[in-house]
Amino acid sequence: MTKRKSLDEINPFEAETELTILAQEITSHDEFYHGRDDPVITDAEYDTLRRRFEALGERFPEIAERLAPLTSIGAAPGGGFGKIAHRRPMLSLSNAFDAEEVNEFIKRIRRFLTLSEEELVEIVAEPKIDGLSATLRYEGGRFVQGATRGDGTTGEDVTDNLRSIDDIPDRLYGAPAIVELRGEIYMRKDAFTALNASQEANGGKVFANTRNAAAGSLRQLDSSVTATRKLQFFAYSWGEVSVMPTDTHWGFLEQFREWGFETNPLTRLCNSLDEVLACYMDIGACRAELPYDIDGVVYKVNRLDWQNRLGMVSRAPRWAVAHKFPAEQAETVLNAIDIQVGRTGAMTPVARLQPVTVAGAVVSNATLHNEGEIRRKDIRIGDTVVIQRAGDVIPQVVRVIEAKRPNDSQVYVFPEICPCPVAARATRPKGEVVRRCGGGLACPFQAVERLKHFVSRDALDIGGLGQKQVEAFWKDGLVRRPGDIFRLSGYAKSLKEREGMGDKSVDNLLAAIQERRSISLHRLIYALGIRQVGQATARLLAANYLTLEDWRAAMLAAKDETTGAYSDLVNIDQIGRSVAGDLIDFFNENHNLEILADLEQELDIQTYEAPATKDNPIAGKTLVFTGTLENMGRAEAKSQAESLGAKVVGSVSKKTDYVVIGADAGSKAARAEALGVAIITEEDWSKLIAR
Ligand code: IVH
Repeated sequence: MTKRKSLDEINPFEAETELTILAQEITSHDEFYHGRDDPVITDAEYDTLRRRFEALGERFPEIAERLAPLTSIGAAPGGGFGKIAHRRPMLSLSNAFDAEEVNEFIKRIRRFLTLSEEELVEIVAEPKIDGLSATLRYEGGRFVQGATRGDGTTGEDVTDNLRSIDDIPDRLYGAPAIVELRGEIYMRKDAFTALNASQEANGGKVFANTRNAAAGSLRQLDSSVTATRKLQFFAYSWGEVSVMPTDTHWGFLEQFREWGFETNPLTRLCNSLDEVLACYMDIGACRAELPYDIDGVVYKVNRLDWQNRLGMVSRAPRWAVAHKFPAEQAETVLNAIDIQVGRTGAMTPVARLQPVTVAGAVVSNATLHNEGEIRRKDIRIGDTVVIQRAGDVIPQVVRVIEAKRPNDSQVYVFPEICPCPVAARATRPKGEVVRRCGGGLACPFQAVERLKHFVSRDALDIGGLGQKQVEAFWKDGLVRRPGDIFRLSGYAKSLKEREGMGDKSVDNLLAAIQERRSISLHRLIYALGIRQVGQATARLLAANYLTLEDWRAAMLAAKDETTGAYSDLVNIDQIGRSVAGDLIDFFNENHNLEILADLEQELDIQTYEAPATKDNPIAGKTLVFTGTLENMGRAEAKSQAESLGAKVVGSVSKKTDYVVIGADAGSKAARAEALGVAIITEEDWSKLIAR
């Protein structure tokens, strides 16, 4: 594992910086991995990033909660397929890496549901198949539509391709009127080897691993190609179902088999932590002999009523966890270290490795995180290093084998000048782990990265304007700042003459750009790529200031910390001084103001509207829970309130609508009384939400 500052040593400011960087890295790797089936780092490295993100997140839950939405599930659907909005989101899984974390998972469930020690928590353990998830919709027993997960909200319509897979029946007998089945599309190891051999012989694309092969084969525009690819399917989950056939996960699996689907034969129903861990060991022991790749074991709470109560957090269910298998390791030579510059100027060292196969994938790059990491591990160019790659996503350098260090190994000197053409000075503020290029938008790397961020899925989401195009348009001077994108229509003719761009693709691109001229304020704020302003923070800002004019005016006024504008800003729940500082820095730069003014000319920026919530009395209200609640844990109460559209905050202010008091409520109740905020009991609360 990467040696970073231990969790006890780290202060909130460092945590925030690191979490932000990790979130950005994770998002970009998700894009490479899921969006293009072409990861740039190996699985173990990716897992390490996620794991660190989660560990830091647990230590600093408030910071993590704010940043978590930054990390996406998969990537938005690609261009060639129709889009399908999932009727129920396709979730991701959080990870556990050892028995203690699994124990903690079960303890958390008990706490959340306030279960007694005696109460049995049944857990279904099933192998985590290394493929890609798909959803299959049956109406009146007929397979009518199938999609990939995409970003979890919208997937690609791959109905015809799925229809060509033998494991997917065209008709279900005795099924509810509407049922969406979900599971994993995968490729067996033997089919993968044969496919790569034939691809190589025919000069086609060779796939890095079974998962990429499955994804690449499913996402073929011509379904007759998919039909030749020997894909298979295991059912393990569901989406919309008109009549629930059962009240347990196990019951669902039985039902799937009755309908003619394959479920994984190694799946077990467990009654205790020990049984769960024994199942993990058993599955791990036969992993190498299995005909398909797996990268862990998934544990799921069996009772569906409990699953519902547990709900989810940042797009992963609280009722499930993936227990990953340990990383696989290999030795290789580190040939060089390159610097990648991110959109905030963060300079990330990347190890260029002698390609080596680890856990079924060829690895040639690994991120080295930051200069401290290189120093701590004493990594030198020319060194033989141990790299590792766990389960399903990225690789990392674990350590150097000093005995194999060549005489001419070179100590890497981290550049204090950005490798960008303007050669800006790169500084590392005291206490921070990351060195940043100070060139701002003058540094082409940052400028391009910012543009990429601007058009990315969670920002402007301009389909057809991918990373490569942004780079090419930047290079040619066509797009130098965000507003230029909206003036591209003036260059339609010359665009159509560019290599690789036909009439149709240019028309589509310009139409996609046109479609994005109308944009919500929170998306625009996120798109600006301000440090520490992820999606959740952008939404908070939009919700508080409503219009671009008001937001900008407030940010400009907040430069003076003695103003009400500043205190209003830092008083927004979850926005502290550190984020406020980054917002002010952004507004202190004239070129940022120019960029905004330019965008204002091009865009129709919508006033913020609170997300449509169910018609209930607490939607849009701000709540504080205090004291011990009798019927549910605090976490459950909070998640329930949030799912009804309320905002739950930690401290009472004039803006609080209700304070819900449990037993032994203390100072918060007193403060509510003093401020004249409505105080309600837990019983009142239950009635209020039951209406
Ligand atoms: S359950 C609501 N079960 O892992 C939970 N996922 O890391 C949804 N996967 O997107 C997922 N085997 O592609 C589940 N037995 C299994 C799985 C499994 C593989 C994949 C799936 C999912 C990803 C999450």
